[in-house]
Amino acid sequence: AGSLAAMREALFSLLFLFCTINLFVSSISVARKPQTIKKWTIQMVGYSPMKNDDYVAVSMEAPTGYIVGYEPLANADRVHHMLLYGCTRPYAESGFWRGESTCGGGGAHILYAWARNAPNLELPKGVGFAIGDSSGESGIKYLVLQVHYAAPFAGNVRDYSGITLKVAAEEPPNLAAVYLLVSGLPIPPGQPAFQNNMSCTYPSKTVLHPFAFRTHTHKMGRLVSAFYKRNGQWTLVGKRNPQWPQLFEDISRPLEIHQNDFIAGSCRFDSSDQKEVVPMGSMGSNEMCNFYMMVYYKATDENPFPYGAYCSNGNPPHSFDDYPKEGTELLPVRPELEHHAHQSALPFGVIEEAKFSLIGSVHLGQVSGLSFDPSHNLVIFHRGKRVWNQNTFNGANELNDKSSIKEDVILISKMEGKNASLVAKTGKGLFYLPHGIFVDTDNSIYTTDVGSHTVAKWTMNSDSSLTKVWEAGTPLTPGSGSTHFCKPTGIVVKGGSIFVSDGYCNDRVVELTLDGKYRSEFKGTGGFRIPHDIVTNEDTHNLFVADRENGRVHELRSDGSAVSIFTSGLFNNIYSVDTNKDSVFMIPGEFRATSFGGDELPIAVFVGRAGTGLTEFAFAPTSAPFSRPHIVRVCPHGDHVYVGDISEQSPLIWKFKIQHEGSNHETDGGTLSFLSSFSLPYTPHVSSGYSFLVFILFILFLIGSAVWAKKKFSSPTPQGSFSRAVSSFFHTHFSSTTRAISIFLMVRIEQLKVKVKVYPRQAILRRKTTLGGTHW
Ligand SMILES: *[C@@H]1O[C@H](CO)[C@@H](O)[C@H](O)[C@H]1NC(C)=O
Ligand SMILES: *[C@@H]1O[C@H](CO)[C@@H](O)[C@H](O)[C@H]1NC(C)=O
Repeated sequence: AGSLAAMREALFSLLFLFCTINLFVSSISVARKPQTIKKWTIQMVGYSPMKNDDYVAVSMEAPTGYIVGYEPLANADRVHHMLLYGCTRPYAESGFWRGESTCGGGGAHILYAWARNAPNLELPKGVGFAIGDSSGESGIKYLVLQVHYAAPFAGNVRDYSGITLKVAAEEPPNLAAVYLLVSGLPIPPGQPAFQNNMSCTYPSKTVLHPFAFRTHTHKMGRLVSAFYKRNGQWTLVGKRNPQWPQLFEDISRPLEIHQNDFIAGSCRFDSSDQKEVVPMGSMGSNEMCNFYMMVYYKATDENPFPYGAYCSNGNPPHSFDDYPKEGTELLPVRPELEHHAHQSALPFGVIEEAKFSLIGSVHLGQVSGLSFDPSHNLVIFHRGKRVWNQNTFNGANELNDKSSIKEDVILISKMEGKNASLVAKTGKGLFYLPHGIFVDTDNSIYTTDVGSHTVAKWTMNSDSSLTKVWEAGTPLTPGSGSTHFCKPTGIVVKGGSIFVSDGYCNDRVVELTLDGKYRSEFKGTGGFRIPHDIVTNEDTHNLFVADRENGRVHELRSDGSAVSIFTSGLFNNIYSVDTNKDSVFMIPGEFRATSFGGDELPIAVFVGRAGTGLTEFAFAPTSAPFSRPHIVRVCPHGDHVYVGDISEQSPLIWKFKIQHEGSNHETDGGTLSFLSSFSLPYTPHVSSGYSFLVFILFILFLIGSAVWAKKKFSSPTPQGSFSRAVSSFFHTHFSSTTRAISIFLMVRIEQLKVKVKVYPRQAILRRKTTLGGTHW
């Protein structure tokens, strides 16, 4: 018995030691992971450009940390280019100003440039732009976003374009800077291959490592290149056709610029169809010659650019006689890139095309729901002469008037230009208070009725009458659980499920089977307050829920977990949501005073970008403001938006046309992946693979000891107490082993949670949006 006790002791000491070591190692790996990345977004203030080549800027105080990535929120349809500056002081205190000014006095550093639908940019591992209190003598206390609009928008559109910055808290071993080569020399007319040169001598002892570059000209530019020369030897930094998407292209070769190296760049222009000299300048009719060189240097080295990094024409200009030929020879044509980068000739806009209070000869009642049938007709769910007011329900959410609506509340309408003709009408005597409608690809109709507290599936017969396929909920009886709804609002079919937003009392989304049986439910991050509409995205298959009283839109996976949440200082209630590709259309249903400046926020359709929680632009009618919009739907082609209004005086449907050219957000240029092409000394991850290996070893060890223990105890004992000994051993110790394992696992899970906590979108979307100037 003594040796047995000693053996147990030894075994569990070993186990304990093993767990401790593993936990220790894991905690080191957690501590060493520089993953505290927060996202900050700087956005335009809802600006509407007033003229061609309109320049405006917004500023915000720079957070402290290191920018390691950029996620632009803009489209070339609306925005010609955006530049992000790090400034000691902004040009104006107001946070928003018109004109080309960016920084006030002190340093001015370019941190990022975007044009022509360039995609997200991740810096190489171990490289970051120091900003805020981290920026030392560069003094980047403010970020200034300059936005250049090529032309005014059509219709009543406000722009919220911007850039989301990924900011790491920990100092990386290398700091980044953008070295700008820029020419101010004019371009003579009639020259098919005019070369404009820039040059300087690099003065600092700090070694620069160029790792990405971007070229920029206006429409006459054909090629921009840059080199450095040391001991008579030219080395290419990069060259690119400026008509391609103007992204930062990565440089896969290791480059070093040393003190006194000669840096030279050149822009090749085609001015053959010009009649006069074209000056350099910011207007579309001017030209530009820019080469942006993104460099990094050791954080411990002296800052080579405390006040900004510029290289210009040299005075007097350096000799360019030996500039490498390669720097001025055109690159092969890439039509797919040129098409993608094409600037829209048609101004971007959302135009109010029509509004309808009559469909055929039918007067619209309160328009609560809209959908599209397989022929792309608009399917309208309205309330006829019935209105929802304070007399509609009693205190127990039951209808006071329990009669059905005697009119046809479902109208199918062919929408052509300013015409809306009636294709069919149906639904008389079947509904009490219509709310949501969805038409499936097989033309089945799904409805929610807030009056009867039910949802139902219908098919339409050739005589336009409806046949009920099934009904879920208990008619005219509000409730919760799996057999009742309480004023259900929206409905959508997605794959093998039906999702219902339920609604005014239960604050839940219910998942039904395709034959209307309760399957599950969820309540959303932080809980819904009147989930009022629900749709799916055809591309990502995510769900979008309008969380009405919280003024939010939840983007969710089918299990209810969050992808992103749209919130904004621009709205405090959201009645309806729809999506098309990566655009998310959201509409408030009423004016409500907010704490935000004490103003009421006029109602608009706010258009966000899926996955970001951010609003990109907004639009509203031009003929009159929205009254009480209740439902927004985008047609399957994505070019028209319909809004149903439940105004008691004049219920109607608004129709808007989205005007743009080549409007996709996707880039043919591909996403840049610096991460794959770089191996810098700084890769501080003790991978979770290591912890996992330790864990596997630990499990193997447990199994091994169990087998060993079993062997040990299976030798026959004189007392024949083998089974008792085994059971007592397993009882007293393997239960504690199980406990040890579960504690170990719990700790691991906690650690994983800590790791995950760093990244979920909601947690890091600490937005600090500058909102001043014009906005709704
Ligand atoms: C730029 O350099 C080239 C030689 O590489 C020269 O032919 C050209 O005239 C220079 N351009 C200007 C505007 O000086
Ligand atoms: C709209 O209706 C009018 C009159 O019926 C017709 O002349 C016109 O062509 C229609 N427009 C469209 C776009 O269908």
